[in-house]
Amino acid sequence: MLKKPLLRRRQKKQTAKPRKKVFNNIVENKLINRVSYEKYREKVRDVYDGPQGALLATCSLLSGHIALGDRLLRERRFDLRGARQILDVGSGAGQIAKHVLKYADRDARLTCFDLSLEMMRRARTRLKSASPRHLVADLTRLPFADGAFDCVTCGYVLEHLPDARSGLSELARVMRPGAKMLLLTTEDNFSGAWTSRFWFCRTYNRQELFRTCRDLGLAWNKELWFSRMHKMLRAGGICVEIVKE
Ligand SMILES: C[S@@+](CC[C@H](N)C(=O)[O-])C[C@H]1O[C@@H](n2cnc3c(N)ncnc32)[C@H](O)[C@@H]1O
Repeated sequence: MLKKPLLRRRQKKQTAKPRKKVFNNIVENKLINRVSYEKYREKVRDVYDGPQGALLATCSLLSGHIALGDRLLRERRFDLRGARQILDVGSGAGQIAKHVLKYADRDARLTCFDLSLEMMRRARTRLKSASPRHLVADLTRLPFADGAFDCVTCGYVLEHLPDARSGLSELARVMRPGAKMLLLTTEDNFSGAWTSRFWFCRTYNRQELFRTCRDLGLAWNKELWFSRMHKMLRAGGICVEIVKE
């Protein structure tokens, strides 16, 4: 049996807020904590509507995210087969949606949404496909019925919310039981801190995010790695397959 002080220390460790490394903390953008969500959301919309948003697809290409995301779905490490109603969250320039159109079943229906109207337009142009439904919406207030989707792809959007719960609970609501989600998000490490600086977003601690998901009935089925390098450097952030219980 553990001695009392040791037990207390272990319990404290499990519930204690993880501390960021000092340098990461200095680099990380803090806007998200400084203003109201409405003000922050306006800023995010402006950033993505503007020239920085126009460069998003090029940035994803140069960072290797497009090629690596393609591999993840092509090799069926996240398997889209069998999904009928797919939701792509914060589609941006359609980086993930493009892979979904390529690897999902022919009769699957893809819905893409984004906070930024300009990003939505860019995605439509880039995808060159009439089949996805595009709409402008906020992840914290989804205009979809409960259990409307059996598959969700959510790439690098959650970091634009001050509290993951507000977005994840909406996703849990629109997912039917047994539905799966590919979730990618910025981690609280060195590369995540720089991503945060450039894209005005926050970062997530892996264990904290795991617990938030678990509390919402979103079970982490498996952690996915783009490549060996990604696993070693954790540069692509958190990448997991989640199943709604
Ligand atoms: C870094 S891009 C990700 C694009 C793409 N999903 C990917 O994986 O590469 C983030 C996108 O999320 C959108 N976004 C940010 N906050 C959002 C919110 N609350 N609701 C919906 N979309 C949001 C932005 O407009 C932007 O297009």
